Amino acid sequence: MPATVVVGTQWGDEGKGKIIDFCGQGADVIARFNGGSNAGHTVMVGKELFRFHLIPSGTIRTEKLNIVGNGVVVDPAVLLKEIEELKGRGYPVDNLRISERAHMVMPYHKVLDGLEESLKGSLKAGTTMRGIGPCYEDKAARIGIRTGDLLDERLLRERLEYLVPMKQRVIRAYDGEEVLSVKGLLEECLGYGSKLKDYITDTSLLLHDALREGRQVLFEGAQGTHIDIDHGIYPYGTSSNCVVGAAAVGSGIGIRHMREVIGVVKAFTSRVGTGPFPAELSDPQASYLRDKSLGEYGTTTGRPRRVGWLDLVMLRYSARVNSPDYLAVTKLDVLAGIDPVRVCVEYEYDGEVMRNFPANMNVFASCRPVFEELPGWEDIREDTWKEALKVGYDELPGEMREYLHFLSKETGVPVGLISVGPDREATLDIRG
Ligand code: IMP
Repeated sequence: MPATVVVGTQWGDEGKGKIIDFCGQGADVIARFNGGSNAGHTVMVGKELFRFHLIPSGTIRTEKLNIVGNGVVVDPAVLLKEIEELKGRGYPVDNLRISERAHMVMPYHKVLDGLEESLKGSLKAGTTMRGIGPCYEDKAARIGIRTGDLLDERLLRERLEYLVPMKQRVIRAYDGEEVLSVKGLLEECLGYGSKLKDYITDTSLLLHDALREGRQVLFEGAQGTHIDIDHGIYPYGTSSNCVVGAAAVGSGIGIRHMREVIGVVKAFTSRVGTGPFPAELSDPQASYLRDKSLGEYGTTTGRPRRVGWLDLVMLRYSARVNSPDYLAVTKLDVLAGIDPVRVCVEYEYDGEVMRNFPANMNVFASCRPVFEELPGWEDIREDTWKEALKVGYDELPGEMREYLHFLSKETGVPVGLISVGPDREATLDIRG
């Protein structure tokens, strides 16, 4: 099984960090392929909590190679901060490599993120303000700067000499106040280059060699299918591809190597940012779930996440575009104690039943959720969950198994992993 890809099936924040950490145990190489410091992956190892934005969660497993692929947009300041933090906690971080083809988030991208959002009116996506959109815009416009460019002073100077006046005009046109200087940016970038030079390399080659040698590679998807630039809720999503196909493009290896796809599903739905959310819950149930789940505040922005019932219309679409072999269902413990549990099985639009996710956001905004009710399961203590997991699937509450069976039947994808808490031990692997 050379390469496994883990992707989010909802709006991001499905608990991928935990699943990647769990699956990472058997991997030799862990690679990120999309997004940037807008992502936030939380991993709990024993009593130690780690939050990553940019570097792969596997970097704490010092014996494994960790890769930031070409599809990622790298904010060098965030990257260096994460490296320094990990070093301060006793991790050498000599197992990290960054693609020379990955684009750099420049300081002006963050300025433009704020300015663009302020002028977008109802098209505002509620971005994380990390410069993600403007960086991918420049990549597509072929005016980006890549990490490899940091190591070539002449090339970098040439780029900045035409880019800085161009960006300055755009910032002024948006009534922005930021003053850019070629000299200042050049110095900043060369400084990043000297600190990052040992990490920057041809990571596609490293992956290729690892796969050729039969080593196990785990691809760590960031964000989720429904904020993917093509398959998400355009224009309210992010600017990268978050679906399984992006793992090949964003890392520089062929799809033939991808042998297993895991779609991570949170047992309920959550989202940060703006836009329609048919299965959204209101208070007091929303704050009950948010508070019980503890983590339902954006890892990157700290914003409270909007929460709702599980939405099968979304999940059927995700199953279609990602072809997962298994679903990994997280936070089943959070839903415990609610009875009955509701699941959105289809939408109603203009008097018609809709089972497929619409592309048109005006249509989506007018969709009303159609719910089915299932019996809830008992809320039990964390150690009781862990004891049950040790015995096996049949020890889990019958109603919970019924919920999982329903989810699997409706999406056509078997459940392969179950998570009932933040710890590694609170995970059950039932993949065949
Ligand atoms: P951007 O990626 O910062 O441009 O933000 C665009 C939209 O995607 C906003 O609604 C963000 O809240 C959302 N978003 C970006 N990254 C994540 C993530 O990792 N989890 C959940 N939502 C995200």
